[in-house]
Amino acid sequence: MRRLPAWALVLGGLLCAYAGAGAGAGAGPALQSYPHSAVLDGAGAYRMRWGRRGSALALRLEVRTRGYVGFGLSASGSMASADIVVGGVEGGQPYLQDYFTDENRVLKKDPQQDYHLEYAMENSTHTILAFSRELHTCDTNDKSITESTVRVIWAYHHKDMGEAGQNYHGSNRGTKSLRLLNPEREEVSSASLPYFDLTNKDVPVPDKDTTYWCQMFKIPVQHEKHHVTKPMEDHRDAEIHLQPVEEPMLEQVSWQDLSSCGGSMLEQVVPEGLHSVEE
Ligand code: HEM
Repeated sequence: MRRLPAWALVLGGLLCAYAGAGAGAGAGPALQSYPHSAVLDGAGAYRMRWGRRGSALALRLEVRTRGYVGFGLSASGSMASADIVVGGVEGGQPYLQDYFTDENRVLKKDPQQDYHLEYAMENSTHTILAFSRELHTCDTNDKSITESTVRVIWAYHHKDMGEAGQNYHGSNRGTKSLRLLNPEREEVSSASLPYFDLTNKDVPVPDKDTTYWCQMFKIPVQHEKHHVTKPMEDHRDAEIHLQPVEEPMLEQVSWQDLSSCGGSMLEQVVPEGLHSVEE
């Protein structure tokens, strides 16, 4: 396994304590190196920041675990036949290992190690890993990073990835589609585009770990084909207005999805705010 010297960990801990804000603080390579950010899970436990660096991609994972953090690229979004990297901090020693999987999801160490650890930190709740890799590694076990939408896969565990055995992540895993190389929206004149707001009425933010709020809206009738251009997957992409607008509340809204339905669903009377709560 690729390991950093112990001083790298100590420096990381000091920087974090100085910033005084735990795992989200600016430690390791400057946060400006990662202009893009997405929360990959629904509970806000797994944040990924990234940015292009010449012919390479720089990534920074901030995950609510003291065990291993897994990240990968997969054509189908499955763990099978994927390009995977796993890292963490164990016994004060940072580690990062390049893996790939076969069609049966068996995790194998990649003989050609293409992920380069730049920073690792673990505090009482989180692990931060910063690393980079070339966009095209010329390794048949790796996926090239292109301009297209890619499926990133993620997983974590409260235990580290032991040399002796691999710890199955259980439900702490998932998939998200992202455009890694050009996630910026093109500058279009929004004034010339028609728009509509989707407004939830009086949604309380409960004192629970996770609340899923599902609301159906009937959108304005259009007589020609139209495309919705506002990305809705992450609250940092879409504009969410909370009343009262409070930053702590904004932080609690971790993602949104937009789905469409048609046919008889359109005419159904749908109650406002169908929601389920997980604690
Ligand atoms: C440590 C060894 C690992 C074992 C033994 C393992 C095992 C499994 C198994 C049995 C499943 C199917 C059941 C399920 O959906 O949970 C699965 C799914 C999944 N795993 Fe892993 N996994 C490991 C590591 C990883 C890592 C490091 C990643 C992150 C990149 C990952 C990402 C996923 C994802 C995204 C799924 C859901 C998609 C699918 O069903 O293929 N796994 N894993």
